[in-house]
Amino acid sequence: MESNEYQAVPALLNMIFGYIKPMSLKCALDLGIADQISSHGQPMTLSQLHSALSLPQSKEPYLRHIMRMLTHFGFLQVQTGDSVGAEPVYDLTPMSRLVTNREGSFNYVPFVHFQLEVFKDVFHKAFLYMGDWLKQEDKETPFDMAHSCSLWEMASQNSGLNKIFNSAMVSTCSIFNDVIIKSGGEIFRGMKSLVDVGGGIGAAAKAIATNFPHVECTVLDLPHVVRGAPTDGIVKFVAGDMFNHIPMADAVMLKFVLHNWGDEACLEILKKCKEAISSTETGGKVIIVESVVGSHKAIECEETQLLFDMLMLTVHAGAERDEHEWEALFTSAGFSSYRIVRTVGYISIIEVYP
Ligand SMILES: C[S@@+](CC[C@H](N)C(=O)[O-])C[C@H]1O[C@@H](n2cnc3c(N)ncnc32)[C@H](O)[C@@H]1O
Repeated sequence: MESNEYQAVPALLNMIFGYIKPMSLKCALDLGIADQISSHGQPMTLSQLHSALSLPQSKEPYLRHIMRMLTHFGFLQVQTGDSVGAEPVYDLTPMSRLVTNREGSFNYVPFVHFQLEVFKDVFHKAFLYMGDWLKQEDKETPFDMAHSCSLWEMASQNSGLNKIFNSAMVSTCSIFNDVIIKSGGEIFRGMKSLVDVGGGIGAAAKAIATNFPHVECTVLDLPHVVRGAPTDGIVKFVAGDMFNHIPMADAVMLKFVLHNWGDEACLEILKKCKEAISSTETGGKVIIVESVVGSHKAIECEETQLLFDMLMLTVHAGAERDEHEWEALFTSAGFSSYRIVRTVGYISIIEVYP
């Protein structure tokens, strides 16, 4: 064996063992490790954590292994004491703060639970079909081959899945909402009405309507989603199919919708959006919130986009797109120009003009 093959073995094993990362995260959430450190208010030693979590005495040596894994992947950080024999202490990191229920923090718990729970029974099976799907002409998606329906059809039949999916989407809205609020509303200036197409149960639309009250917000989504929407009247909800009709408004928003679809379907959606908005002179535009592949220098963002791309491919035959691919779609749908307004982490906000 050549020496570079020696090196390839751990790389191959790391790829095979990739599933152990989310399983370790699930264990951390099941035990409530991050919440425990958060409520303690300061870093904790292994023995403090073991006792606070009320684990059996015999399990203390095993807890060390999960802590080492969580620390290695940046979920926790460890500080070793200066004095000889001092026990190391474990503290939260920005990543673990995303899954602690502290006031004011972004709460990604519903999204993490959705991915872990739905992966087990639903996504994993779809991924097993990816090779077969690529070999065949006729099947729509690997998900479809595995389950004989789309994710949206499955959610419409399964109220538990529908609920966990919609809550997961709400939890990922927090970062977008924060960005638009901090931006001071430049995107919504002069706008009187906006339709959030595929807007779920309205978390983003509610943030827009609350912070920029001159914008009347409507959410269009499938009937099974709209049935679970809040009835506080801040946002108007319309149950429907974006391929049939999009209500008229100054602007249409598509937030994490187009990556669920192949190019042909995206063109149909974009053309329908173009029909629904007012002219550029009166502020008409389509606001797209998605990834722009390659626009982020950070290695984690690149990897996030790659993984999202595989997820979209497997579940929807959709895609994450780079700027050239976005531009080609906008031009084919008849738009005159576009502008990437802002990029935060792996998310970009793109304005597209008629
Ligand atoms: C990935 S989710 C994004 C939800 C929300 N925009 C967000 O960012 O949190 C995609 C949404 O598109 C909706 N959707 C799928 N097909 C649709 C259709 N034909 N018409 C309207 N909405 C649809 C789904 O129900 C879901 O709420």
